[in-house]
Amino acid sequence: MSHVIIKFDGVSKVFPEGTRAVDDVSFEIFDGECITFVGPSGCGKTTTVKLLNRLVEPTGGHIYLNDQDTAQTDVIALRRSIGYVIQDVGLFPHMTVSQNIALVPRLQGWPERKRNERTEELLHLVGLEPAAFRNRYPNQLSGGQKQRVGVARGLAADPPVILMDEPFGALDPITRAQLQDEFLRLRRRLKKVILFVTHDMDEAIKLGDRIAVMRNGKIVQFDTPRKILREPADPFVRDMVGREGGIKLMKLLRIADIMDPADGMTIPADRLSEAERRMAESGKDILLVVDKEGRFQGTISYEQVMRGGRSGDVALLDRALPPAETTDEVGHTLEAMLRNKRVWLPVVGEDQKLRGVVTMTNFACFFTAGDAPSGGTS
Ligand SMILES: Nc1ncnc2c1ncn2[C@@H]1O[C@H](COP(=O)(O)OP(=O)(O)O)[C@@H](O)[C@H]1O
Ligand SMILES: [Mg+2]
Repeated sequence: MSHVIIKFDGVSKVFPEGTRAVDDVSFEIFDGECITFVGPSGCGKTTTVKLLNRLVEPTGGHIYLNDQDTAQTDVIALRRSIGYVIQDVGLFPHMTVSQNIALVPRLQGWPERKRNERTEELLHLVGLEPAAFRNRYPNQLSGGQKQRVGVARGLAADPPVILMDEPFGALDPITRAQLQDEFLRLRRRLKKVILFVTHDMDEAIKLGDRIAVMRNGKIVQFDTPRKILREPADPFVRDMVGREGGIKLMKLLRIADIMDPADGMTIPADRLSEAERRMAESGKDILLVVDKEGRFQGTISYEQVMRGGRSGDVALLDRALPPAETTDEVGHTLEAMLRNKRVWLPVVGEDQKLRGVVTMTNFACFFTAGDAPSGGTS
């Protein structure tokens, strides 16, 4: 995620009759990123992505793909390097599924065998059994299946950049959620730059590494989903996020993001004699006792230490409620704590080693917009 693949520099599009569809837009997209463009109908999302593959030519500014000004690039070569997936898919009705998918590779002169292999691979990738689907015609497919074929076709020539314009917009909510999940799985396997247009903020949050929120041809905020949920730039963005910003944020955050790291709070079980000094140094009233492997054993309090606390005093872990894990969803942990009337929990890593603690205060901080969560990155 380091070098810039796409750069928009003061880009505008004014259509001949005067509509300012894109208004002085600048941004950079880094290697491997999926950017979701979100905003109400007519705000300029489609025009913005079409400017990249030059289906629309800018009336101002410059667009760079891999440091090359797209205005200076051969249009055919440019479009070859950019896959395009749209809402109504635009499958050719007289071509079979495999012919539709292999269209661009065929135009590019791929030999038949390579085309067939690629088609099979892509059908698997988008969850369609080749034997059942390769010879079907588009009118023999459901909406969700057509959309999967559309995605396969967009990927066919293995372009490094893909534009997806409301690809799931026309699907029922269940199919749509399924395709979103598949999209996320697919993304982990294909390291591509994706520009994904949607009018649905939830979809933008779920699929984007960063979100470009658009209004009247301008980008009003370009940030990570977390940042947009925590700190919407203005009332318009806040409105787009909706009332349940906190709940949406909870789904994105992991315990590691809000916990307090265990640094300075731990003491090995065989060195409890140092507890008093450790407490004085760190200002903590409670220490977390760990075994030789760094696994959480229990706690020892100031009072216990004052009474000459030894290993028998260590308050053992409450087996009814196991420690939280760093990768747990914040909401799940909060629920478990409320249900078990616990105000704090130790946090362990996958290896069961103690990593930190999560307290009710961590949750409270995270709901307070503007404050960075105490433990993690936001
Ligand atoms: N080919 C065109 N000619 C004239 N106006 C257009 C054209 N395409 C889009 N527009 C106008 O530009 C604005 C932005 O459109 P668009 O980029 O399609 O928005 P979105 O995808 O966000 O709904 C709208 O006002 C739309 O009517
Ligand atoms: Mg559009």
